[in-house]
Amino acid sequence: MNAPQAINRRFILARRPRGEPTLGDFTLEKHPVPTAGPGQLLLRTRYLSLDPYMRGRMNDVPSYVPPVALGEVMTGQTVSVVEASNVEGFEVGDLVTAVAGWQDYAVLDAKQVAKIDASIPRLSYALGVLGMPGLTAYVGLLDIGAPKAGETVVVGAATGAVGSVVGQIAKIKGCRVVGVAGGAEKCDYAVRTLGFDACVDHRDAGLREALAAACPKGIDVYFENVGGATLAAVVPLLNIGARVPVCGLVAWYNLDKLPEGVDRTPQFLTQVLKKRIKVQGFIVFDHYQRMPDFHKDMSAWLQEGRIKYREEVLDDLESAPQGLIGLLRGENFGKLVVRVSGS
Ligand SMILES: NC(=O)c1ccc[n+]([C@@H]2O[C@H](COP(=O)([O-])OP(=O)(O)OC[C@H]3O[C@@H](n4cnc5c(N)ncnc54)[C@H](OP(=O)(O)O)[C@@H]3O)[C@@H](O)[C@H]2O)c1
Repeated sequence: MNAPQAINRRFILARRPRGEPTLGDFTLEKHPVPTAGPGQLLLRTRYLSLDPYMRGRMNDVPSYVPPVALGEVMTGQTVSVVEASNVEGFEVGDLVTAVAGWQDYAVLDAKQVAKIDASIPRLSYALGVLGMPGLTAYVGLLDIGAPKAGETVVVGAATGAVGSVVGQIAKIKGCRVVGVAGGAEKCDYAVRTLGFDACVDHRDAGLREALAAACPKGIDVYFENVGGATLAAVVPLLNIGARVPVCGLVAWYNLDKLPEGVDRTPQFLTQVLKKRIKVQGFIVFDHYQRMPDFHKDMSAWLQEGRIKYREEVLDDLESAPQGLIGLLRGENFGKLVVRVSGS
């Protein structure tokens, strides 16, 4: 009897969301497993990373990377295993990172993948603390935020993939670290496990007062991950010469029109001017030359137990749409990944 034909499940973008994405924006398709051509690799997905930027790729607006086209496989970084190789130097069973998307299998050229160092503590770390989000935290904080010992660093989405690493590196550099997170459980984790000096809840009506109390000497580095109410609470507290690496604005990713209410741009830019604040947006793609330094430092910090790392692992590719919807609501606790195959 023949073995059952393997299939490739894949999620395509079926419709562009208005506001919060819904399950109907994605369609699950089943196709035969593709075949690797000359110079190509057939990859099977082990882990798929779910990240806030994916929401932006669902919009048809100009950005630093083109959007996902309607009918195209949703984009996403993966840890994948080589199932078939027509490339010298790649063997069946090799583990790689790739942008293979929300699917079981993908065919890619060798230059589109990177081998994973066998010494990695867990495979999925290549999508988080030892991968893109970790590098983002490292370059955003150290190269742009330039924190000095004794300064106060504030970071939002404080228990997430980027924020948790930002705060812990700032502690290693001798700073006072104040996190902003959604809910008491996450705030408690930021202080007790990650070692932050304080953490305030952005869902609390007293956010401004609580942040001011946690930052008695003002804020020297605000690592901007979120925007929204957190940014409004931060602006009055920024010190002369503060630095604001603008990494992400997740509180606004689901906006389909500008919010009602007081426009705080005048207050923000007046602060920027009077206090000579440096605000710099950055995209991690422009900083991959820092990967060797990042890997060396982060591997050592993990090994020494100076960086703690938490993941939330969803099971099965089919949980990806709900996972992304939940991520944008703050339902994840730690770096969100999907286990697609293997253990
Ligand atoms: N510039 C770059 O190259 C680059 C690269 C990677 C990531 N990023 C950005 O970095 C940020 C963090 O990404 P991540 O991968 O580490 O995600 P994450 O923190 O693991 O997950 C997203 C978190 O955002 C928070 N959030 C959602 N809605 C919010 C709201 N209205 N107000 C405040 N917080 C809200 C939630 O945490 P709480 O429950 O604590 O609110 C949620 O858990 C995102 O903005 C992302 O786009 C930028």
